[in-house]
Amino acid sequence: MIFDTHAHYDDAAFDEDRERLIESLPRNGISTFVNVSSDEDSLSTTAEIIKKYGFAYGAIGIHPSDTKDSIELFDKVREKALSHEKVVAIGEIGLDYHYRDTDQALQKKWFRMQMNLARELGKPVIIHSRDAAADTYEIMKECHAEDIGGVVHCFSYSPEMAEKFVAMGFFIGIGGVLTFKNAKKLRETVQRIGLERLVLETDCPYLAPEPHRGERNSSLYLKAVACAIGEIKGIDEAEVEAVTFENAHKLYRIGDKYDRG
Ligand code: NI
Repeated sequence: MIFDTHAHYDDAAFDEDRERLIESLPRNGISTFVNVSSDEDSLSTTAEIIKKYGFAYGAIGIHPSDTKDSIELFDKVREKALSHEKVVAIGEIGLDYHYRDTDQALQKKWFRMQMNLARELGKPVIIHSRDAAADTYEIMKECHAEDIGGVVHCFSYSPEMAEKFVAMGFFIGIGGVLTFKNAKKLRETVQRIGLERLVLETDCPYLAPEPHRGERNSSLYLKAVACAIGEIKGIDEAEVEAVTFENAHKLYRIGDKYDRG
């Protein structure tokens, strides 16, 4: 069985067939997914999805590019994070310096606030970090991320950087990008990091793996990612699925043996 640790099924790209698609996942080998919120609207739509589907979990948080100078928004994050027991993480949060007009100070403020919220609530974090490796690592150190735990999702940095996050007890999220021709650095990362620290994710509707690159992504394509990890590590795809499935439960502390109590 496959655990999709990062999906956005509330995205408008799924408006036409959301229900049919989500209901088809378990019979296609996808037993669980975490719907990850990113902006104010998706705090509510994520909460709806986890109420509707028994096998769905949720993450509540504001994406760095959607942060606003608003304390009301932060209050809403806290309220939604507490609204359902199947909210298993705070995310996605972090830093994204990709676009020129980025308010880096505001992003850092939100990153710190949401890291502290995660600590307070005893939940792991889902970190989104793009073109901001050094600042991300600095804030994680400052907030003692090793006591909070979580995943660096859609990992895009060097293998050395991955080792630093793993040393903090974090998991590394691997998705469709691994199958792209130009993903040499990511393939090196997968080679270098032990399977027990990797989790599968789609980030759907984005980043569909080959041969579906450019199409709408869904958890149904995750087998291609498991397959690519298996090839790099010289192991069976089934072993990749089984170990990353277990890892995802550890990451989100789902199931009796991982409850922090
Ligand atoms: Ni995402």
